[in-house]
Amino acid sequence: MQIKNIKIHPKKIKVLFKNKKSENFTNIWLRDHIFNEENWDFVTNQRKTFTAVLDPKTFIKKAKTEENGKYLILEWSDQKKLAKYSSKFLYDVSKNNGLKKIFHKTWEKKDMTKNISLKFNRAITKEGFKILLKNICTYGFCLITNCKPNKNSVKKIANKIGYIRQSIFGGLWSFEANNKMSDSAYSKSELRPHTDSTYSNDAPGLQLLLCCEYNAKGGESILVDGFKIAEKIKKKNKKFFKILSSIEVPGNYLGDGVFLQAQRPIFRLDKKDRIIQVSFNNYDRAPFRLDEKKTLEFYNALRKFDLIANDKKSQWRRVLKPGELLIINNWRVLHGRSKFKGSRKMSGCYINKEDFDSMCKLNSLSSY
Ligand SMILES: [Fe+2]
Repeated sequence: MQIKNIKIHPKKIKVLFKNKKSENFTNIWLRDHIFNEENWDFVTNQRKTFTAVLDPKTFIKKAKTEENGKYLILEWSDQKKLAKYSSKFLYDVSKNNGLKKIFHKTWEKKDMTKNISLKFNRAITKEGFKILLKNICTYGFCLITNCKPNKNSVKKIANKIGYIRQSIFGGLWSFEANNKMSDSAYSKSELRPHTDSTYSNDAPGLQLLLCCEYNAKGGESILVDGFKIAEKIKKKNKKFFKILSSIEVPGNYLGDGVFLQAQRPIFRLDKKDRIIQVSFNNYDRAPFRLDEKKTLEFYNALRKFDLIANDKKSQWRRVLKPGELLIINNWRVLHGRSKFKGSRKMSGCYINKEDFDSMCKLNSLSSY
């Protein structure tokens, strides 16, 4: 967006863009954002300016635009060289204000008619990998089929996205039903929809789950869009939404040599009241107290949330067969599994949310 005109004030400059939007840039902010060799390291993309020693009285001596408003050129009182700012930078930084754009499509069962799967050999190509990322950004999950049914397939896909995260379960893990572990995920009984690691301050962003062996009956994987639940509750019952987005619910992992605990609301919102994370794990919820009125309100809201999550109309279901890998955004989509008889071996890993976000940005995608 090019600049139409500018007006210098003593402590700021008013920039009017060609789409009639205007923005005030204070002198200190502009002085702090000079992109030239003296003030910016173009190799490391880091600021060189020692901001704290900038004279607050630094002022703009002269200002003009160049190339039909493509650039703003400023002459600073403390700089020998003219400073050049691109109108794109000034516009983008004002418009987005550092916040991410939202591109997701919320869904329930009836909406998931689209084939969301990709074959492994395609997923590892440049073009296929971008589709994989796009599916996760849009729907909160992606299915990769035709993988070799072993840990290496998980490792190969995970390493394309980011770093494998170390946790109480290890890095790259394999598991089957095991009643010695202190987590419900190791049982054969029904596992109702939940997000993982409500006991972690930084819950894993992605969970990768590959079916390696399946000699069983049942064991459908269940996914539910937590953002859709939030949308529904916000629309029909603002009071419940307020409770679920304000009361901090603690989660615990006690056992296997650790005592992890964290707390946050079931719907975590940003400063513009947009949802950024859903955290719900009724298994891991730790005892906590509220006053009498709030207690009743909280249980009413929790009931609403969990009944929607357990309603089959909300759920995408599939029995994963050997070689099928699910990648789930654990900050958005709840996962569960119906009960099963027989044996079922799975492999998987976690990836941090910020590493997934980073890969999305490198591919010009927004992970929200
Ligand atoms: Fe889980």
